[in-house]
Amino acid sequence: MRIDIITIFPGMFAPLEQSILKRAAEKKLLEIKLWDLRDFTQDKHRKVDDTAYGGGKGMVFRCEPVFNAVSRAKNENPCGKVIITSPQGSLFTQEAAKKFSREQGLIIICGHYEGIDERVFSIVDYEVSIGDYVLTGGELPAMVITDCVARLIPGVLPKEASVDDSFNGCLLDWPCYTKPEVFNGLRVPEILLSGNHKKIAEWRCKQAEERTRKKRPDLYKKYLKEKS
Ligand SMILES: C[S@@+](CC[C@H](N)C(=O)[O-])C[C@H]1O[C@@H](n2cnc3c(N)ncnc32)[C@H](O)[C@@H]1O
Repeated sequence: MRIDIITIFPGMFAPLEQSILKRAAEKKLLEIKLWDLRDFTQDKHRKVDDTAYGGGKGMVFRCEPVFNAVSRAKNENPCGKVIITSPQGSLFTQEAAKKFSREQGLIIICGHYEGIDERVFSIVDYEVSIGDYVLTGGELPAMVITDCVARLIPGVLPKEASVDDSFNGCLLDWPCYTKPEVFNGLRVPEILLSGNHKKIAEWRCKQAEERTRKKRPDLYKKYLKEKS
């Protein structure tokens, strides 16, 4: 999959060059291209923003550089669905990540300052928020979306590795343990040492149910409804 990211801070994206995403890029499963929005300005100050019509203190991203940047990104990523990061968008969930991971490409616009000229939304496929809070810019949301989508691209994680993850169904993931068997007097549950895979699977399922009931009653309610 190819992901293009349009930003005024391309230097912020170093985390996408680490770990699993780095390996995905090496395996040619993922290609990330950063576009500096300032490269799409015409003036010597490379001005991407201007004052808001109607007044107000905040600066607003101008249409022209954003339209031009999206158009250039589309040339190289023609099937890329355009996502705009915005606190007013639909909430980014695991379901949304799954949907995006089935696309051939994505083009993500990172806003900044007060926001983006409303006319930009006419060239956007999805308006996405990562939560009900306001960040200074769309760079962190773009990284969140990219990271979450990338790990769902077939081949990026070992087969079936994400199947039991939280939010894949209605249940949260079960508790996991590794060596040593006892640490500071805290023991690994006996069942996990038993080698009885059927019993272990049952225990894990129970644990997933129990922790979902306690931590996320909203999800648990949904789980019971789907189960009945
Ligand atoms: C300071 S915010 C603008 C907030 C806008 N004035 C509002 O209240 O809806 C600047 C940029 O950060 C990004 N942003 C901030 N919070 C976000 C969130 N929760 N989800 C996605 N993007 C967000 C968007 O790209 C937004 O254009």
